[in-house]
Amino acid sequence: MALIEFEHVFKRYPGSSNAAVDDLNLHIEAGEFLTLLGPSGSGKTTTLMLLAGFEAPSSGTIRLDGASIESLPPHQRNMGVVFQSYSLFPHMTVAQNVAFPLSVRKVDAATIAAKVTAALTKVHLENYTHRKPNQLSGGQQQRVALARALVFEPRLVLMDEPLSALDKKLREEMQLEIRRLHRELGVTMVFVTHDQSEAMTLSDRVAVFNQGRIEQLASPQELYDAPANPFVASFLGDNNMATCTLEAGPGLDPAAGLATLRTASGQNLQARICAGKAPPDNASVKLCVRPEFLWVANDNTALATPNCLRGTLLDLIHQGDHWRLVARLDGLGRSGAAEAPQWFAKISPGALPAGLVVGQNVCLGFRPEDAWVF
Ligand SMILES: Nc1ncnc2c1ncn2[C@@H]1O[C@H](COP(=O)(O)OP(=O)(O)OP(=O)(O)O)[C@@H](O)[C@H]1O
Ligand SMILES: [Mg+2]
Repeated sequence: MALIEFEHVFKRYPGSSNAAVDDLNLHIEAGEFLTLLGPSGSGKTTTLMLLAGFEAPSSGTIRLDGASIESLPPHQRNMGVVFQSYSLFPHMTVAQNVAFPLSVRKVDAATIAAKVTAALTKVHLENYTHRKPNQLSGGQQQRVALARALVFEPRLVLMDEPLSALDKKLREEMQLEIRRLHRELGVTMVFVTHDQSEAMTLSDRVAVFNQGRIEQLASPQELYDAPANPFVASFLGDNNMATCTLEAGPGLDPAAGLATLRTASGQNLQARICAGKAPPDNASVKLCVRPEFLWVANDNTALATPNCLRGTLLDLIHQGDHWRLVARLDGLGRSGAAEAPQWFAKISPGALPAGLVVGQNVCLGFRPEDAWVF
């Protein structure tokens, strides 16, 4: 049995016509690190609030260990929370802040002292017990909030964008800290972010939210390698897209999982298609190729190679560990039409052809197994 089960949960806020959470079905396993990832307004915070008990579902059931918890008030759910809006008490010291969940649970003073020290040691703040929150850096404050969420040994810790106020370096340090704590404590963590790299760094599984629904729930690697639809493909990692037509029968090779497509200009391409999800022949489909899977050639001799598209180089930018190359792909537009799509490629320095100049013709290509059709 899963630790948490959402069954057909809906949440409509008063006065709102759309559901903030729309028929959510989600099982959270004990000990896992689950991240809710999605654009602004997609229902991540609402889901966390429903779980913590700060909001009640309009309909549906939420179970903890198989028992329905809708009528259980937040403080009886035994969940540690780190919400942005739920910040530290400014008038209390670090130690008093961390002691708070234990004091309200009427734990004796000696136990509180021992547990506060242990919790602050875990987040490397054992020497800051007497400071006030305004005497700490942003990252240190976040670590105090984390210690406060962990100190009463909850089975479940809920975190809503806890690192969003931090600069990149501190944020990455804290991500590693949270990873370490999850590993050491074996606690179940549900984490909200709209930062895809943060989600990939931390999570066992990621639920990709869109308009109150989960588009896909899988490990970061599975989401990246086998996205269920263009939304997931574009939300996790970068992506180039083009509208193509699925070729008739023989073009489809279900055994290899490859489909043949026709571009607007009539060129044939091959890409992977999800078995069992193939649309009818001649359907309009989306081709998705990640920029790191594109190769580039600086002349037209490569055009004979399968899956090679003709284009014009619009920009070439050095990004340290790779070159970002922007091209308008004439081969994807209707002949003579101005709206040929712009794609970008990430090319490692060793793979960049010599002497490329902006404005010249180039070819971009990809292996069929590195591209997806939806
Ligand atoms: N208290 C509220 N009253 C009315 N509508 C709300 C309330 N809180 C959220 N909503 C609406 O519910 C939807 C989901 O909001 P939610 O806060 O869950 O999104 P989110 O995914 O956390 O977004 P963000 O990334 O911006 O934090 C949005 O359309 C939002 O406007
Ligand atoms: Mg939110």
